[in-house]
Amino acid sequence: MTPATPPVIELNGVTKSYGDVAALAGADLVVRRGELLAVVGPSGSGKSTMLNIIGTLSRPTTGTVAIDGHNISELSDRELSALRAGTIGFVFQQFHLAPGVPALDSVADGLLYSGKPRRERRELAEQTLRRVGLGHRLYNEPHQLSGGEKQRVAIARAVLGDPPLLLADEPTGALDSRSGAVVMELLHELHDAGTTVVIITHDRDIAASLPREVRIKDGRIEHDSALPGHAYERAGA
Ligand SMILES: Nc1ncnc2c1ncn2[C@@H]1O[C@H](COP(=O)(O)OP(=O)(O)OP(=O)(O)O)[C@@H](O)[C@H]1O
Ligand SMILES: [Mg+2]
Repeated sequence: MTPATPPVIELNGVTKSYGDVAALAGADLVVRRGELLAVVGPSGSGKSTMLNIIGTLSRPTTGTVAIDGHNISELSDRELSALRAGTIGFVFQQFHLAPGVPALDSVADGLLYSGKPRRERRELAEQTLRRVGLGHRLYNEPHQLSGGEKQRVAIARAVLGDPPLLLADEPTGALDSRSGAVVMELLHELHDAGTTVVIITHDRDIAASLPREVRIKDGRIEHDSALPGHAYERAGA
């Protein structure tokens, strides 16, 4: 990744407070197109808070956030929704699939507000489910899917419109190691296809296997393997 690659995420001095809790206490982060990085840190350190701010689901208390070159403080809620819909896919630990809804509809519903006709939405959803290896599970409801399959449905939904940025909050946290490995493989494939991928994880092996690692503690980034000094720190550790 060269410095000339345009940043898809730029956080400058970002803080987020909830009452007197400083969930984020000043985060600076630049992520360029095509990166794949892990965000790690203890429970309560501010990882999800930072991911939700990057995902424009939450606005910072202070500091600036630019996503795909747009300073989000300059955008109205409507413009922000449009940016989010066109640019960002989310994957969460708990899948968030509606009970009783077949995989195909779960994914196709992600395009409900796209203006595309139903048939086209379902065709795209089917293609995407095939892409994540679930062509044989199109009509299964969540209770008829394994945990790993549910997460793959959720990933299909997240990447349906081919968003350049995929944010995953503990995507393997609810999975056994084998299903987790399948999900990680899929995230690597999406990255290989050009998607910028940010993964929060508690799994040290996963974090160590990714090209970049950002460590958060007490709402601050205490380590970023992309920054100079990393090699020194490693050597001295
Ligand atoms: N909506 C909220 N209202 C009040 N406090 C919050 C809110 N969201 C998060 N916090 C607090 O902010 C801090 C950071 O929370 P966050 O969810 O970002 O942690 P995390 O690093 O994702 O932890 P975990 O690994 O347990 O998911 C915590 O102290 C949490 O209690
Ligand atoms: Mg969290």
